[in-house]
Amino acid sequence: MDVISVIRAKRDRGELTADQIDWVIGAYTRGEVAHEQMSALAMAIFLNGMNRTEIARWTAAMINSGERMDFSSLTRPTADKHSTGGVGDKITLPLAPLVAACGAAVPQLSGRGLGHTGGTLDKLEAIPGWRAQLTNPEMLDVLRDVGSVICAAGDGLAPADKKLYALRDVTGTVESIPLIASSIMSKKIAEGTGSLVLDVKVGSGAFMKNLDDARELAATMVELGTDHGVRTTALLTDMATPLGLTAGNALEVRESVEVLAGGGPRDVVDLTLALAREMLDAAGLPDADPAKALADGSAMDHWRRMILAQGGDPDAPLPVAHEQHTVTASATGILTGLDAYAVGLAAWRLGAGRARKEDPVQAGAGVELHAKPGDFVAAGQPLLTLHTDTPEKLPYALEALDDQVVVGPADTTFAGTPVVWERIG
Ligand code: URA
Repeated sequence: MDVISVIRAKRDRGELTADQIDWVIGAYTRGEVAHEQMSALAMAIFLNGMNRTEIARWTAAMINSGERMDFSSLTRPTADKHSTGGVGDKITLPLAPLVAACGAAVPQLSGRGLGHTGGTLDKLEAIPGWRAQLTNPEMLDVLRDVGSVICAAGDGLAPADKKLYALRDVTGTVESIPLIASSIMSKKIAEGTGSLVLDVKVGSGAFMKNLDDARELAATMVELGTDHGVRTTALLTDMATPLGLTAGNALEVRESVEVLAGGGPRDVVDLTLALAREMLDAAGLPDADPAKALADGSAMDHWRRMILAQGGDPDAPLPVAHEQHTVTASATGILTGLDAYAVGLAAWRLGAGRARKEDPVQAGAGVELHAKPGDFVAAGQPLLTLHTDTPEKLPYALEALDDQVVVGPADTTFAGTPVVWERIG
């Protein structure tokens, strides 16, 4: 087998054989296929796609590139959720302890933000002392004691995806349905969860910009999960505008704690509850009541135990950025547009995200929203507060928001978007 013939086959719109796929994934993981060769293959796949047979084999090869975890010693059913990535998407933070409070075990292997989308681990690291890196036995201990754990995937889990995802990020090959589906599902299947709910984001702040593409991605992932014996469903959810009122690490932790305390923005609460119900159904716990667990403090209790178990101090003050800058409404009327991608890019430029994998992030940086599309706003009223430790970046963050915050006439009839568009599976 040689890599050039595999690249040529996909470049010329051919179907890759099972042997070609197994070989190229194995050889890339071992370092026998060079990054530039894998880049060419990823771009050929990005441009020419893969059919479902190829995607299934590609996913299986990525699973087989590493270890599989085993949660069979747990007495509770396991349930996991994965989001395809968005702006202000802090849902994992309240969701994992909430679902644990309802009786499931939630092994949440999460990632870091790259580009304009935030990462769950970066958010939690804003909590003083909190540790993302756990060994497999430590992870099992937290799961057993608390019921939920949010941590980084160990190096042994789907190492082919680790290399390939980092490569895709710097070669313009992220937004590809076959590559996203296989990347997410290889990790989730190798993780060994019994059930999985996918939160497939749709809109400017998501990788999938329209419903048709999101449907195709969701259906592909649901089929992959089901074929591997994981009960898998997907919700297509809105990402045209940021989720909640914050985008940025410590800012999002603060908002998540508000949700766990029984408050928080309506869209964050609604989506957390919708995903919790899906997870509990898939885990065989359809009678559990997540709204009650939010209201009676049991979800908050699980959150505190989960943070403590990973070295964090749930009572410590969260970091605050050194500088704040307020953006005000230019006119009186209805806020009709607040673009998710623009807010994500602004938060990233303020220091909440990283340009390269090894860059540090600022815990306090980000964007706070004071109004959401559909709200009435008065000229001069604060609309956004930008937070940063590097004020020299403010002009670039403001540039990202240019023309993306739109105030229409006061009599505008605003047709909002639903939090959940569709369910698949
Ligand atoms: N999340 C992943 O884990 N992989 C992708 O390709 C996109 C989002």
